[in-house]
Amino acid sequence: MTVVVLLGAPGAGKGTQAGILAERFGIPHVATGDLFRSAVRDGSPVGLEARRYMERGQLVPDDITIRMLLDRLEQPDAKDGVILDGFPRNRAQAEALDAALAERGVSVDRAASIEVPTDELVRRLSGRWVCRDAGHVYNEHTNPPRLVGVCDIDGSPLIQRDDDTAETIRARLTLQLASLEDVVDHYASAGVLKTVDGVHSIDEVTDALVRAIGRARDGQEVV
Ligand code: AP5
Ligand code: MG
Repeated sequence: MTVVVLLGAPGAGKGTQAGILAERFGIPHVATGDLFRSAVRDGSPVGLEARRYMERGQLVPDDITIRMLLDRLEQPDAKDGVILDGFPRNRAQAEALDAALAERGVSVDRAASIEVPTDELVRRLSGRWVCRDAGHVYNEHTNPPRLVGVCDIDGSPLIQRDDDTAETIRARLTLQLASLEDVVDHYASAGVLKTVDGVHSIDEVTDALVRAIGRARDGQEVV
């Protein structure tokens, strides 16, 4: 089982890169934000609860988040590993993940932190469009679709996320960065952290991540 954690501030490119890496490594992309958005769309109890926090740019409480993620890891498609995007988001979540993996005799192979300065994060989030049906990610400035308003991959309409308003972007960046630092420290202490400069093209960031993760998968490098 290969467990890769992608870390980064809102807008750093976690979802964009996790989608590419999941295809490349043949393991699923598991994003707690996507799981919550799907629960919100379904109107489930988890969705109704999560929505109250997401619309304010706050973290959803750990009990709900950890249970949802651990349930997802039990699914058969995750048996060979996962690319985690947006989880863990604080020390308690990181410790819960460590404990669940230890029960299976494994641990996080690589945590890669994608670093992007705040003004660039704001620019990326305010220009982001996602496809309605599958969440494929575009950007009107940096990564536009071939046809305005239409997903290149599945032809579904492009929409903006409810939390990509100026006010909620500000709240997410203000409220979530301190606990992200705790998670970065957690994986640095475990010796599995690699930092990648996210202010390059999408392809260049992918290459840097593949180098970082590939070596960990092959067991050739301990950071
Ligand atoms: P989540 O969905 O995880 O949102 P986020 O962390 O705010 O991250 P984003 O999805 O906004 O950014 P990203 O890093 O994926 O960037 P992307 O690839 O889209 O979480 C949403 C909410 O759910 C949270 O606020 C919280 O309430 C809740 N939640 C989720 N997980 C939780 C947890 N574990 N605990 C508690 N609560 C939780 O890229 C951004 C834009 O930039 C795109 O337009 C893209 O095209 C563009 N772009 C990407 N890479 C590049 C590049 N290299 N150059 C130029 N443009 C680029
Ligand atoms: Mg994302």
